[in-house]
This record gives sequence, structure tokens and C-alpha cells, in this order.
Amino acid sequence: MIIMVPALVILLGAAMILQAEFLPDEKLLLLPPVNFTIKVTGLAQVLLHWEPNPDQKPRNVNLEYRVKINAPQEDDYETRNTKSKCVTILHRGFSASVQTILWRGPSLLASSWVSAELKAPPGSPGTSIVNLTCTTNTVADNYTHLRPYQVSLHCTWLVGKDAPEDTQYFLYYRYGSWTEECQEYSKDTLKRNIACWFPRTFIQGKGRDWLAVHVNGSSKHAAIKPFDQLFALHAIDQVNPPLNVTAEIEGTRLSIQWKKPVSAFPTHCFDYEVKIYNIRKGYFQTEKMTTNAFVSIIDDVSKYYIQVRAAVSSTCRVSGLWSQWSRPVYVGNDEQKPLTRWFLIVLMATICFLLLMSSLLCRMCHLWTKLFPPVPAPKSNIQEFFITTNYEKAGSTETETEVISYVEEPGFETLEDSVF
Ligand SMILES: *[C@@H]1O[C@H](CO)[C@@H](O)[C@H](O)[C@H]1NC(C)=O
Ligand SMILES: *[C@@H]1O[C@H](CO)[C@@H](O)[C@H](O)[C@H]1NC(C)=O
Ligand SMILES: *[C@@H]1O[C@H](CO)[C@@H](O)[C@H](O)[C@H]1NC(C)=O
Ligand SMILES: *[C@@H]1O[C@H](CO)[C@@H](O)[C@H](O)[C@H]1NC(C)=O
Ligand SMILES: *[C@@H]1O[C@H](CO)[C@@H](O)[C@H](O)[C@H]1NC(C)=O
Repeated sequence: MIIMVPALVILLGAAMILQAEFLPDEKLLLLPPVNFTIKVTGLAQVLLHWEPNPDQKPRNVNLEYRVKINAPQEDDYETRNTKSKCVTILHRGFSASVQTILWRGPSLLASSWVSAELKAPPGSPGTSIVNLTCTTNTVADNYTHLRPYQVSLHCTWLVGKDAPEDTQYFLYYRYGSWTEECQEYSKDTLKRNIACWFPRTFIQGKGRDWLAVHVNGSSKHAAIKPFDQLFALHAIDQVNPPLNVTAEIEGTRLSIQWKKPVSAFPTHCFDYEVKIYNIRKGYFQTEKMTTNAFVSIIDDVSKYYIQVRAAVSSTCRVSGLWSQWSRPVYVGNDEQKPLTRWFLIVLMATICFLLLMSSLLCRMCHLWTKLFPPVPAPKSNIQEFFITTNYEKAGSTETETEVISYVEEPGFETLEDSVF
């Protein structure tokens, strides 16, 4: 307690000094900044700049500024700097205001506003492009070892409905401090550019900056209105499908493996979805996972096909789109079954056919024998030999009948011989 009292006294003293410093400034008049300018520093990018008011007194107070964006989209923020960068579309113009502010405890002193604006670029209505869509894709870079991956960019758009037939459009993109013009356009039947392809860009695969795209145009008959759009990379990135999908069945274990897609993101940055399609039953199951392998227990002998797709997970980036499914990988043996089934059917058919034929043949010989009773012929020595040997071998009735029916045959043969 004894130690705390001097501390309190010091605190009180400090507070009194502070108040003494501010009390005479109760009527402190804050003056607005001067020379407020808005300068275009790149595609869809402006720099706001102002100076503190030279007549502001006292000079030693901590002045701050509040910036208010009025168009194209309202926004406001505070800063201690006298300049501020803004990324925004500019084809509808841009306007902003700034004021000097001073926080005094919880209360805020503020000057009047100063404003500046950029006029919308000229152009006839309905001449600018519409429905601009862009996608990015990562490819492995074969040429340089500086960057293992390259990002390509593809954009498409529609011609403005009131654009003259001779309109030509030009596309530019900006990523960070790099700006490039399109070199590979696709054209419509009137030779107007309607799509653009950049095989390589300055876009960073893992980047978080906005991608700014600007499309302007020219025509002999009208001023073509330019068009800007900002894209968040996660929303337009077309992720590659997983690589090297393999699947094998051992007993009832179906194990599936794959590699991460071609991407600047490392392995732990992906979510996967596995689709297992049972071809015999015609249904599929899908499983979500974050690992590069999956084991499923199957209770059904069937042929399956497996597909896997990938998405960058929210641990590494705002979650975006799923990739395409990988090419199907087939596993299992559904084909053997129908084969054996077919074989059995063919076998049965053959047996039936043979039986039918033989019974037909038998009926025919019975008919023959009935129509033309066998002519009694002198028994040959060989037949006698047969009968005797058979009797010797086995005395069963079965053999007897067999032998007897066999005996009849030579008669039939002899008959035939005698007929023809
Ligand atoms: C404001 O701009 C004027 C004219 O460009 C210049 O003379 C003046 O020094 C500037 N004021 C400040 C505070 O920079
Ligand atoms: C273009 O976009 C508008 C809305 O933004 C939509 O209504 C229209 O169907 C789109 N046109 C085509 C051809 O996609
Ligand atoms: C790299 O090489 C492969 C095959 O050789 C090719 O398909 C691919 O387009 C190449 N990538 C780039 C960025 O040129
Ligand atoms: C289109 O925009 C680019 C980049 O701002 C500019 O260099 C070019 O002159 C413009 N072209 C037309 C026809 O306005
Ligand atoms: C995928 O398999 C091919 C050959 O089957 C191999 O050359 C390639 O390196 C594999 N890719 C990966 C990422 O393992």
C-alpha cells in the first residue's frame, strides 16, 4: 500500500498534465487535407494522395485521415499515411473523399471532407463486352527451373449488343505489378475477338492478390466502352485432377491410391473425393478424404471403375472449385462371369441338339427296321466271337442288351448294302 500511493500520485499527475495540454485546444479546429489527387497507377488500380493542411495548428498532434470511397462501391477506412492504394474497377469512374481526424480518448474530432473523382472513360452505351469469365490452370514448367509451375489464363466474353460490326476488342490482365496484353485471341464470324488464351502468365499459383482484367476496344463508328473485372484466384482456379490413380483388389479389400495434382500447393493442401462405381449393380459411392489413399471392403464380385477429384482445402486457401474427375481406372473381374455363363449356355444347347439328333436318328432306324425287317443273313464268325467274348467277360443283363442291340446293326448294314 505504501509503495502504491506514490505510483497513484504520479498517474494522477500525468493525467492532469495531459488534460492541461488539451484543455486550451477544446476549440481545436481540424483543417481538411490539401492537394487531394487520384492517379491511375495500373489496370483497375489507383493511388490516392493528399498533404496535411499547412495551416493546421498545433503541428505536434497525431493527425489521422479517414478515406471514404464513394464509387464504384462504398467503402471507408482510416490511415496515418498520406497516400493509399486502391484496387477497384474503373470503367464506371471512381470518386473518393478524405478528411483529417483526431482521436481524443473515445471522442473523435474531424475536419470537413475534400473530394476528388475520376470520370468514367468515354464510350457509347452497349458497346462494351459482357459476360466476361476467366479461368486459370497450373501446368508443370518444362523450360525454366526458376519456377516449377506456370499458371495459364483463359478468358471468354460476349460482344456488346450495340457494338458496331467492325469493333475489335483487346484484353489485358494485371497481376501484382505485371501487366500483359493478350497474344492469342479466338474470333467470332465477324473476326471480332471473343476469347483469349495466355499459356504462361505472371500469376502465382499460391497467390492471394486480385487478378485484374481489362477489355477495351476500337471501332471506326463508335467509341467502345472499356470493361474491368476483378477475379479472386480461388474462385476461378481450375484445379488439375489427381495423378496416377491406381486400384487393386485383394480378396475383399479394394485399395486405391493416387498422387496430388500438378499444383504449386503442397500435398497437405488437398481434399479429395473418390468415386467407386459398381458396374454390375450400376451404382456408385463417393467418399471425401484428405489422404492420398483409400481402402474399401467390398462384398460383391464385380467390375468397378474408380475416379478421384481434388480441391485445394481451406487450410491453404479459401476453398474453391473441384477438379475434373480423373480418367476412370477399372478393377475387378465381372467379365469372367458372363463368359462362363455363355459357355454353359452354349454347352447345354449343344448337348440338347445332339440328344435331339440322336433320338431322331434312333426313331428313324426303328422306323426303317419296322418298315423293312432285316433279311435273315448267315451269322458271320466275327459276330459269334463278339457274343461269346462278351458273355465271358460279364454276365450282367445290361451288357446282354447292349450286345443284342449291337448284333442288330450288321443286319441293318447288310440290308443297306443289299438295297444300294
Ligand atoms: C499543393 O499543390 C500546389 C500546386 O501544385 C503546391 O504549390 C503546394 O505546395 C502543394 N501543397 C502542399 C502542402 O504540398
Ligand atoms: C450474360 O449474363 C447475363 C447476366 O449477367 C445473363 O442473364 C445472360 O444469360 C448471360 N448470357 C449468356 C449468353 O450467357
Ligand atoms: C510440358 O511438356 C508436356 C509434354 O511434353 C506438354 O504437354 C506441356 O504442355 C508442356 N508444358 C508447358 C508449360 O509448355
Ligand atoms: C486499352 O487499354 C490499354 C491498357 O490500358 C491501353 O494501353 C490501350 O491503349 C487501350 N486501347 C484502346 C483502344 O483504348
Ligand atoms: C505417374 O506415373 C508415370 C508412369 O506411369 C510416371 O512417369 C510419373 O512420374 C508418375 N507421376 C508421379 C507424380 O508420380
